[in-house]
Amino acid sequence: MRMVDIIIKKKSGYELSPEEISFFIKGYTKGEIPDYQVSALMMAIFFKGMSDKETLALTMEMADSGDHLDLSAIKGIKVDKHSTGGVGDKTSLSLTPIVAACGVPVAKMSGRGLGHTGGTIDKLESFDGFNVSISEKEFIDNVNSIGISLMAQTADLAPADKKLYALRDVTGTVDNMSLIASSIMSKKLAAGADAIVLDVKTGSGAFMKTLEDSRALAKAMVDIGNGAGRKTVALITDMDQPLGNTVGNAIEVREAIDTLNGKGPSDFTELVYTLAKKMLILGGKAVNDDEALGMIKSVISSGKALDKLAAFVEAQGGNKDQVYDPSLLKVSDKTTFLKADESGFIDRITCDKVGVSCMMLGGGRASKEDTIDLSVGIELLKKKGDEVAKGDNLAVIHYNDENKLSSAMDELKSAYHISSEKPEETVLIKEMIG
Ligand code: URA
Repeated sequence: MRMVDIIIKKKSGYELSPEEISFFIKGYTKGEIPDYQVSALMMAIFFKGMSDKETLALTMEMADSGDHLDLSAIKGIKVDKHSTGGVGDKTSLSLTPIVAACGVPVAKMSGRGLGHTGGTIDKLESFDGFNVSISEKEFIDNVNSIGISLMAQTADLAPADKKLYALRDVTGTVDNMSLIASSIMSKKLAAGADAIVLDVKTGSGAFMKTLEDSRALAKAMVDIGNGAGRKTVALITDMDQPLGNTVGNAIEVREAIDTLNGKGPSDFTELVYTLAKKMLILGGKAVNDDEALGMIKSVISSGKALDKLAAFVEAQGGNKDQVYDPSLLKVSDKTTFLKADESGFIDRITCDKVGVSCMMLGGGRASKEDTIDLSVGIELLKKKGDEVAKGDNLAVIHYNDENKLSSAMDELKSAYHISSEKPEETVLIKEMIG
């Protein structure tokens, strides 16, 4: 088999066989096929697309390119959750302790933030001493003893995807439905869960800006999951404005803790509860949404969900006092306000601009190598639909470096759009697939 023939076949619009897909993934992972040939193939796929059969074959091949996490030593049905990424998306921090407190084991690998989107692993490091790089044995032992563990994705998990994603990033071939779906799902399959709940974001802060594209991505991922024998469902949820009222790292952790205390913002609480219901049903703990909701409310009001977060933080070396007293989390107390320069209603908050503004403050990464300041962030005092008068505070900016402030403020200002008419209400949970 020759790589050039595979490129020509795809360029001419034909379906690649599983053997051809296996040949190029194996050869690329081993370093036998050069970047320039794989770049050409990625571009051909970008223009000619891939069938469901090809997408599934690519996913399985990438999932098999490295280690598979063996979760068989954990009792019960393991349900994973994945978000396609957004701004203010601290969902895993509230969701996983709730689900674990209800008896579904949580063994989750998570990622770091990049660009305008944040990452769970960075947010967890806001707890003093928290270790995201525990061994696989500790990871599994923690799930068996306290019901929950989250760790950073290891290098051995789907290494083909790691290489390919980096190449796509610099060759303009990220935004292809089959390539995104296979990239995400290869990592989920290798991470070993029995069932998967996907949170596919849609809107200005998401990969997929339109509902139609988000639906197609959700469907592609659900088909892959089910095709690989894992029960998979996807929710399509709004990312046209930041989720909840905070964007940053430690500041988002505070909001996630408020939510475990039953005092979270309504949009974020709705999303967490909806995903938790699906995870409890897939995990075999509840037969329907009503039963699941009863369980969720019970672990919130009894404080069991909060205790679960504290046990998890402590087991991974973190300071659990910060769970019970979130004011101990280090959020910069140097603050300034963004003010409304006209009266009216908040019509839109361009989501990715809020994420970029936080990145400019130092709270996110422009490139993978950047280090981030966990203590900076943005608190949104007004969101879509709120009425404001000229001079009202729209947001509080927590910063450390004066030199970064003015461009970050400009970016945040450009995210807010004020209009004389009240906009239509946003529907947070748009659709469920699978
Ligand atoms: N996230 C991934 O892991 N892969 C993609 O291709 C896009 C988003």
